[in-house]
Amino acid sequence: MKKLPFKNKILLAPMEEVNDIAFRLLCKKAGAGLTYTGLTSPLTKQKIELQDKPALQLFATNTKEIKKFIKKYDKQVSMWDFNLGCPAKNARKKGFGSFLKDLKIIEKILKTIKESTKKPVTIKFRKSNISFEIIKIAEKYCNAICIHPRTQSQGYSGKSDIEFAKKIKQQTKLPVIYSGDIDEKNYKKFLKDFDYIMIGRKAIGNPNIFSKLNNKKTNYNFNDWLKLAKKYNLHFRQIKFQAMNFSKGKRNSRKLRNKIAQCKTLKEIKNLTLIKFKNYKFLGY
Ligand SMILES: Cc1cc2nc3c(=O)[nH]c(=O)nc-3n(C[C@H](O)[C@H](O)[C@H](O)COP(=O)(O)O)c2cc1C
Repeated sequence: MKKLPFKNKILLAPMEEVNDIAFRLLCKKAGAGLTYTGLTSPLTKQKIELQDKPALQLFATNTKEIKKFIKKYDKQVSMWDFNLGCPAKNARKKGFGSFLKDLKIIEKILKTIKESTKKPVTIKFRKSNISFEIIKIAEKYCNAICIHPRTQSQGYSGKSDIEFAKKIKQQTKLPVIYSGDIDEKNYKKFLKDFDYIMIGRKAIGNPNIFSKLNNKKTNYNFNDWLKLAKKYNLHFRQIKFQAMNFSKGKRNSRKLRNKIAQCKTLKEIKNLTLIKFKNYKFLGY
């Protein structure tokens, strides 16, 4: 069995938009066992930064494109993950993510991925009527599986079906990564039932959750993110988005977020937090 590239059992869940290179690097420094990119199309025109050596999550069905893409980035990643869970409209349009239900196509894709790399391969999928068929295919081509036990129609709301995830764990010898509603209070329980766990929403604007759950202490804030964002030339749109994320859970955060939304320059964001919210530690000054 191929060794999984996890430094510990608590991983950063793949999150489109949220998991930019700066955020992933902070989560890694804070102690995430592995970072994941958000879903990525082999046809993307955006520059892909992989300095954190993440799991790169594929979102595609065309095997030729997948092969070419893996060849291009294989050295820079720790692992390849295939997305079978995305519930969004653009996934429906393309027949990707949770809308990809054709088991023959799923098998063809996983076979292609496995044949294109020596790195570990995983899939991330949801609760559905084909979950158990997916496991059978995964056992031929994957080194671990990840279950987010919500249905496609639930999206990200409602309860995740933990009992369903436990059945998945019982059905397979592959290591199982669990994703869904993990927080600082419940993570130990999930670590007993599953091999690895992922933190998604609770890590947004809060990379320090990884040090906390690993009994360490880090104090990364928006300013640390910003330094990395500048290094990697991230767009102002992304700076605004992460400024709002890092303000969550802080004093006056709703008011602050509304103001950030109106900012047109980085200076405006800085002034806003420095002047209007004097003792506010969000920028780290
Ligand atoms: C903003 C956002 C973006 C997401 N993007 C992806 C993605 O690109 N690929 C993926 O497999 N899951 C994606 N997810 C799902 C998460 O990886 C995770 O499975 C889900 O949020 C449940 O975990 P949580 O309760 O810890 O957030 C996304 C979730 C959120 C909130």
